[in-house]
Amino acid sequence: MNAPARLNSALSVRDQFPAIAGWHYLDSAATAQKPQAVIDAITNAYGRDYATVHRGVYERSAAMTQSFEAARAAAAHLIGGDESELIFTRGATEAINLVAARFTNGTRKRVLLSALEHHSNIVPWQLAGYGIDVVPLIEDGRIDLDAAEAMANESHAIVAFAHVSNVLGSILDAPRAAAIAHKVGAKLLLDGCQAAPRLPVDVAAIGCDFYVFSGHKLYGPTGIGCLWGRAELLNAMPPYQGGGAMIDQVTFERTTFLHAPGRFEAGTPHIVGAVGLHAAIDWTNAIGLDALHAHEVALVNECRAALRDVPGVTLFGPEDSAGIVSFAIDGVHPHDIGTILDDERVAVRAGHHCAQPLMEVLGVPATARASFAAHSDASDIEALVQGLHTVKRIFG
Ligand SMILES: Cc1ncc(COP(=O)(O)O)c(C=O)c1O
Repeated sequence: MNAPARLNSALSVRDQFPAIAGWHYLDSAATAQKPQAVIDAITNAYGRDYATVHRGVYERSAAMTQSFEAARAAAAHLIGGDESELIFTRGATEAINLVAARFTNGTRKRVLLSALEHHSNIVPWQLAGYGIDVVPLIEDGRIDLDAAEAMANESHAIVAFAHVSNVLGSILDAPRAAAIAHKVGAKLLLDGCQAAPRLPVDVAAIGCDFYVFSGHKLYGPTGIGCLWGRAELLNAMPPYQGGGAMIDQVTFERTTFLHAPGRFEAGTPHIVGAVGLHAAIDWTNAIGLDALHAHEVALVNECRAALRDVPGVTLFGPEDSAGIVSFAIDGVHPHDIGTILDDERVAVRAGHHCAQPLMEVLGVPATARASFAAHSDASDIEALVQGLHTVKRIFG
């Protein structure tokens, strides 16, 4: 299979990722490798342009403030939102913790999650004291929205689903999920960690209330993530952490707070992380998320077809999954698959992928997972299949 024309025009897409030279990197769902443009932006932000934001009166600080706020706008626009509603966090995990800890919906104390959620979309709700109802999956590994509709009720403060599963690659019918939540007065939070790097996202068209994603899965740096929320919801939520930068007036008797997003960004932010994320978003937009999605869907199709020819392979997830293929081989632990593939310079993830409840549903302790990105191509799939034949030879 060849990459689609727009990506091919940059055979150089692969060459733009210095860290994958001589390697078949199939673990982009865990963290994406960084194109040179992002590495350069980070280097320049520290090495040439560095200063604090929001407080300095000198020119360099004003310029960095502009860059920081431009990054916010880019992150908001990436998902069809407004910058006044985009909060920088340390990652998707912190973003969900923030909502779980601070959002309230009257006296409702239950949340509706699905069986395929990442631990980041389970544990924060438990820590915040919510009871959890779990929507099952349909046969091919998508969230059963008929069941969700039957289960949603007025005890649910929030419905919180992965937009794309990090294990199965299954894509949620997000507008329908929004309608299901809103019908019972609940809000919809989407965990967009795997969707934001893989699909065009439009929070307005979806009709969701909160959307979270991580910079490092979107070709950007670690330590920066995004929480988008509707302004009226964010501004009704009390601050998550206190400190500098999030206040209006402070006295020892009483403190007043900024509106969102400032009220949720206590302390000096991850300035360079935001600049790096902006470069990553520009890089992604230059390719186009439609083209990226088509590229990864084609790779998934090719990968699933090739894996079917390897004896003893079980494939998980729907045929039309987004950039992610989970599989198992009869009688071989996924960790052994990962270790043998590593000897052949193929990097896959093996384990429960921070989705232990989903492993129970699948009836396995772990899976092996190949996940794609802009730089992936047919040579990665060939190397994977060759490696799996080695696994078969070793394990008989
Ligand atoms: C679906 C999903 N949600 C949440 C997370 C957590 O993201 P982070 O560790 O970047 O906060 C991940 C990361 O693996 C993920 O794949």
